[in-house]
Amino acid sequence: MSKKLWGGRFNKPTDPSVEEFTRSIQYDYKLAKYDILGSVVHVEILGKARYLKPKEVSKIQAALFKIGEGKFLPDGSYEDVHSQIQDSLEQKVGELALKLHTARSRNDQVVFATKVYCKDKLAEVAALGEGVVSALKSLAKANRDVIMPGFTHMQHAQPMYLKDYLGAYAMMLENVIDKVKIAASDIKLTMGAGAVAGTPIDAKYYNVSMDKYAKKLGLGLTGLKLEPTKNSIYTVSDRGFVAEALNVTAIIATHLSRFAEDLIIWSTKEFDFIDIDEAFCTGSSLMPQKKNADALEMIRGCAGRLYGNRMGFLVVIKGLPLSYNRDMQLDKEPLFDSFETVIKELKVLKGLVRTLKFNKDKIESQLDDESLYATDIVYYLVNKGVAFKTAHAIVGKLVKYSIDNGIEIKSMTDHELYRFSDKFKSKEIVRLFDPKVSVESKKSIKRN
Ligand code: ARG
Repeated sequence: MSKKLWGGRFNKPTDPSVEEFTRSIQYDYKLAKYDILGSVVHVEILGKARYLKPKEVSKIQAALFKIGEGKFLPDGSYEDVHSQIQDSLEQKVGELALKLHTARSRNDQVVFATKVYCKDKLAEVAALGEGVVSALKSLAKANRDVIMPGFTHMQHAQPMYLKDYLGAYAMMLENVIDKVKIAASDIKLTMGAGAVAGTPIDAKYYNVSMDKYAKKLGLGLTGLKLEPTKNSIYTVSDRGFVAEALNVTAIIATHLSRFAEDLIIWSTKEFDFIDIDEAFCTGSSLMPQKKNADALEMIRGCAGRLYGNRMGFLVVIKGLPLSYNRDMQLDKEPLFDSFETVIKELKVLKGLVRTLKFNKDKIESQLDDESLYATDIVYYLVNKGVAFKTAHAIVGKLVKYSIDNGIEIKSMTDHELYRFSDKFKSKEIVRLFDPKVSVESKKSIKRN
């Protein structure tokens, strides 16, 4: 039988429709280990402040660790995870469990648990993100000599190294991983807010180092330090850390969505630049020949879901008066979903990138397109003293003439070229249509 954490002032039972509508156990059970960590710490504080005897401290803590062992199974009849843990404790240690709620409120408890959860998940995201970065770097290294057409507006632009293309995504991820780490270290763990106004326990008792407890609960977090709250109203009201977590996960999802889209396009028959390993593709129930990049399509699409999580949450919080309001409970589902989704995406991508094969012949064949070297011809004229804009106009006319008359620039005679500029020398122009010459002429890229 579920028990509520409140009820003394009520004569009537809660209407079942309200119970069903307000309960959060079906998702906030995911906070169980973090909430138990908070309770174990709180018990230490109660001991220091002499609300509990040393024997009571160890008895309650041992029972809490027992509850935190293995997988926490939610019981749908409880209001939330905090209520279920409290009741489990009562079943284990009896009346003594009733002292646990001294000097605390779920308003403070839920912030603590959600903050530790965020630290844990941000660390996981950073580590998985680094895994994808290193997969991208290995792929770049394995294909370091491959030159491909670079695109702007999805049109052939200039030749570029495949390793730089992959490196661009690695850098985008590295940048956001830095932000993920900052978001995690910016989260300060505090207690002592109570419901909103603080507690009668001296601030000095709230300085606790939590690593030993976290380890015992099987959490991979270290360097956890609890501090007394500096402002109890802030502690129970602020959800900036949730917004930040939803933000960094949305940024990651954006980068991954773009990468997924590039790979989807490159895997089409029309492009045929890559071969995605079968293990990362799915088939069709009707068309036997199909090998679809469904996982990448999901990654492309999930970005929208993560924006929805972020925006939906911000709209819930906007306009909320201080301090705690039940609306805040609505932060959990988007938060959990964003973390879980981005974690799955990173896991899929690491394997997919590691097994990706490039069709070098097909990529190379695209480099015959003369238009890719038009900018190199502009620089050729610039190097001979022609103003850039003038050179741009000359080469524009040259390209148009080549297209209209079906004559390749590299096969034009000096006589033909002179009609556009007397600086042209066919012997020199021919040498420009070389992908290696083109990419190596760009000095602004600082490659490691
Ligand atoms: N499940 C609630 C949440 O996630 C816990 C806090 C409830 N506090 C209260 N006073 N009703 O926000």
